[in-house]
Amino acid sequence: MSSRKTRSFFLWPLVASACFLLSVAFFPNNPYKVTPQKDLDQREDPKQKLTSHNSTKVKMGCDFSKGKWVPDSGGPAYTNATCRTLMESKDCLKYGKDTDYLNWRWKPNGCELPRFEARMFLDIVRGKRMAFAGDSVARNQLESLLCLLSEVETPLDVDKDAEDKFRTWYFKSYDFTVMKLWTRFLVEETERMINGSASGVFDLHLDRINTKWTEKLPLINYLVISDSHWFFRKNYLYEGGKLIGCTFCSEANLTDLGINYAVQRAFRTALKYLSKCEKCEGLLTFLRTFTPAHFENGTWNSGGDCKRIRPANEGDVSFSGTDWELRNAQVEEVKKLQVEKPKGAKHFMLLDVTRAMTMRPDAHPGSHWNNKWMGGYNDCLHWCLPGPIDMWNELLFALLKEDTP
Ligand SMILES: *[C@@H]1O[C@H](CO)[C@@H](O)[C@H](O)[C@H]1NC(C)=O
Ligand SMILES: *[C@@H]1O[C@H](CO)[C@@H](O)[C@H](O)[C@H]1NC(C)=O
Ligand SMILES: *[C@@H]1O[C@H](CO)[C@@H](O)[C@H](O)[C@H]1NC(C)=O
Ligand SMILES: *[C@@H]1O[C@H](CO)[C@@H](O)[C@H](O)[C@H]1NC(C)=O
Ligand SMILES: *[C@@H]1O[C@H](CO)[C@@H](O)[C@H](O)[C@H]1NC(C)=O
Repeated sequence: MSSRKTRSFFLWPLVASACFLLSVAFFPNNPYKVTPQKDLDQREDPKQKLTSHNSTKVKMGCDFSKGKWVPDSGGPAYTNATCRTLMESKDCLKYGKDTDYLNWRWKPNGCELPRFEARMFLDIVRGKRMAFAGDSVARNQLESLLCLLSEVETPLDVDKDAEDKFRTWYFKSYDFTVMKLWTRFLVEETERMINGSASGVFDLHLDRINTKWTEKLPLINYLVISDSHWFFRKNYLYEGGKLIGCTFCSEANLTDLGINYAVQRAFRTALKYLSKCEKCEGLLTFLRTFTPAHFENGTWNSGGDCKRIRPANEGDVSFSGTDWELRNAQVEEVKKLQVEKPKGAKHFMLLDVTRAMTMRPDAHPGSHWNNKWMGGYNDCLHWCLPGPIDMWNELLFALLKEDTP
């Protein structure tokens, strides 16, 4: 079974010209432990669907989250020549990655995931605003979307703050706005300072929303929220203003409540806020579930790498352990809202990509990125562009189509 050893996680701001946040994880948990397929199927009500409401447009029996990667020779939807916003750090082909990882397509069991159609996507979101709230993996999905849409139009880079935490792109001919709302934890955070320098340890108020990202919400029609990687570190947890425990800690007088507890509470707080938010009329929220890192033969800072060149088969991957508990906690929080949904309430949907991405150890940059700044480290956490992360937006597209009259 997977090691229960503390996983620590680092996300460093990339300074100067590079304009994004980089994260690299230390994941001793090896997803390649073959375990019996003890499974979510047993825990989940099969009647519950990915989406919250009844529609005839997409086959409702289809669960996009389960399936396999099948060979596909269609080629990538974009390249670094057609996508002018493609970030250097995700341009894996430029840095020598073999193209094999591109020749696969996600095939859900019993149905097809429609291919992304940029023009139809833009028609659906014409005049609307979409935001991605979360960490650098959320940003990774946003960048994928910009590239997928670049087939039709390159967006204007209209606004960004000094640290590139909040940034806005605009597709002029469709009056469509895409925003990045940076948040490490969704909830209120304060980094502990030790001798005047940042410690990487945070005080988290699990029951208080972080208003830095929510203050942008009144303008937003579609929100994709995610997060979790920053929770893999020592943090102090508060509820009701009181210190109630910590994570990745060993302190005599304090309980280690576990990362799952912290993540679930943070998402509960965020979703509750969204469901009650009076200024967020008509908001449709997608929760993108946790995706694992795939460091092997070491950790992020001890030479760990991700050199596999093929997707994993379902049977070779363990769908248990911390990654799955986090995903299940996120799903549980969304399903609670779907069940309770009173008339006129806001919609919540899942982009449940955990299973699909657990099977893609071959799709991270690894050593194939411009890691001058972090010389020698491999990125087995983020995802190459183009690549299977584009599937997250195909899923978003399928659900948006379904939701749009
Ligand atoms: C969905 O709507 C159709 C047509 O209105 C109805 O026949 C069907 O029972 C509904 N399905 C569910 C699961 O509510
Ligand atoms: C685009 O990628 C190719 C490799 O696929 C590389 O040779 C080229 O330098 C890249 N172009 C830019 C502008 O980064
Ligand atoms: C803070 O600085 C003081 C004086 O330089 C030093 O003695 C102490 O160990 C430092 N504390 C930590 C936690 O680094
Ligand atoms: C726990 O113990 C440490 C060191 O003994 C102390 O600094 C801290 O304030 C204590 N925390 C609580 C909640 O009592
Ligand atoms: C791990 O190390 C072994 C032995 O050096 C090597 O054969 C294998 O390819 C490595 N795996 C990865 C994913 O790098």
